[in-house]
Amino acid sequence: MDLLLYNIGELATLSHGDVSKPLSGTKMSERDNLLLEPGHSILISEGNIIKISPEQELLEEFAPDLEDNKSAHIELLDVNGKAIIPGLVDCHTHLIWSGDRSNEIRLRQNGLSYQDISKQGGGINRTVEATRKASLKELKSIGSSNLSQSSNYGTTTIEAKSGYGLSVESELKILQATNSLGGINQNILSTWLGAHDFPKDKKVSEYMDELIHEQLPLVAEKGLAKWIDVFCEPGWFDLEQTEILVKSANSFGLKSRLHVDEFVDSGGLSLAAELKSSSADHVGFSNHDSRDKANKSGTMQVFLPGTPYVLGKDLGNGIIDCIENNWNFSLATDFNPNCQTLSLPFVSSLATHRIGIDPLTALVACTRNPASTLNSEIKHCVGSLYEGGPADFNILNSEYVDYWCQTPGVSPISKTYYSGSIVKS
Ligand code: NIG
Ligand code: FE
Repeated sequence: MDLLLYNIGELATLSHGDVSKPLSGTKMSERDNLLLEPGHSILISEGNIIKISPEQELLEEFAPDLEDNKSAHIELLDVNGKAIIPGLVDCHTHLIWSGDRSNEIRLRQNGLSYQDISKQGGGINRTVEATRKASLKELKSIGSSNLSQSSNYGTTTIEAKSGYGLSVESELKILQATNSLGGINQNILSTWLGAHDFPKDKKVSEYMDELIHEQLPLVAEKGLAKWIDVFCEPGWFDLEQTEILVKSANSFGLKSRLHVDEFVDSGGLSLAAELKSSSADHVGFSNHDSRDKANKSGTMQVFLPGTPYVLGKDLGNGIIDCIENNWNFSLATDFNPNCQTLSLPFVSSLATHRIGIDPLTALVACTRNPASTLNSEIKHCVGSLYEGGPADFNILNSEYVDYWCQTPGVSPISKTYYSGSIVKS
């Protein structure tokens, strides 16, 4: 049955101009272009938005008997004056892994760096040990419970990386688990991150060979991922290894999204731009020229403020630089064993309350902008609300759109719809 939403508060459509393209600079906070005032209605049919029009027009046409509170042909939803925003798009998560590394906080507080902890047998390889032991069924159940957390915070499209298997069998198992979970409450798009670290049981050259000649062909042949990711950082994969891996993946039709410049500026963002990566993530230490180069090459810079937050580091000036220079950027959670949040509202609270970003800018960075790096793999463009587009949206617990990122410890969302159906009530 068709659904008509009425009595909506502020409505963030974010659909100004070409919805497949990201917005940058002050265009991300132009309220006149991105928001509709209260008094609009949305008509939904078969999972898509059919109309967004002044409420009076839609009610007269589709629910003339609203006063009697009955309408045979249409379901009516009174939104009670609450604001609506698009379904959120989390373009960087390590969704599926097993184990616990909560002891590492004390090691960090006692002066050990992320690199030191890794050298001592903690970090990624410790999670790999635990994840390899988990069965496909267990991984599916972990994935499904993490997805419901993410839904709870309004995410309707999520990218999910492998990367805690680091062997043919285990990487494939994580990707199979990921792919089995899609399409119910969220779009799930998987990325192969076999190059997250070097496994302890292999030499560097042996593992590079395995990645290129065993993992990659299988991932591509089975259609398990659309992107390759590499942790390109001194101490992990260097620029040369990253380039070899990305070019090999490109030859199998996989695009790339990369972890770069998380701890130092090693030229990772510049390389991502040259390789025409869909996105370059972390980018905390990238320099001005590489940010400019990335923007020109169409590589989205994705900031992950939750990570420096949990590692006790400065949140940096990268986001402000992007806004001031009109460079496209996005925000994502980077959910992983160290940074256990699947809440884009929380991550955007960091950006808003701690860095001073406008809440509407943060919203664009968590919807339309990251969607532009994923849309090629989804039927319709997500991340904004427009006629003909998917009915993926959130009803907030406030009449104001700005509320969406101002409740850091609790979800700001009252109801989420994915493809026209309710996810959470
Ligand atoms: O994006 N830095 C690389 N990968 C993850 C963290 C991995 C881990 O510590 O388990 C990230 O932050
Ligand atoms: Fe990450």
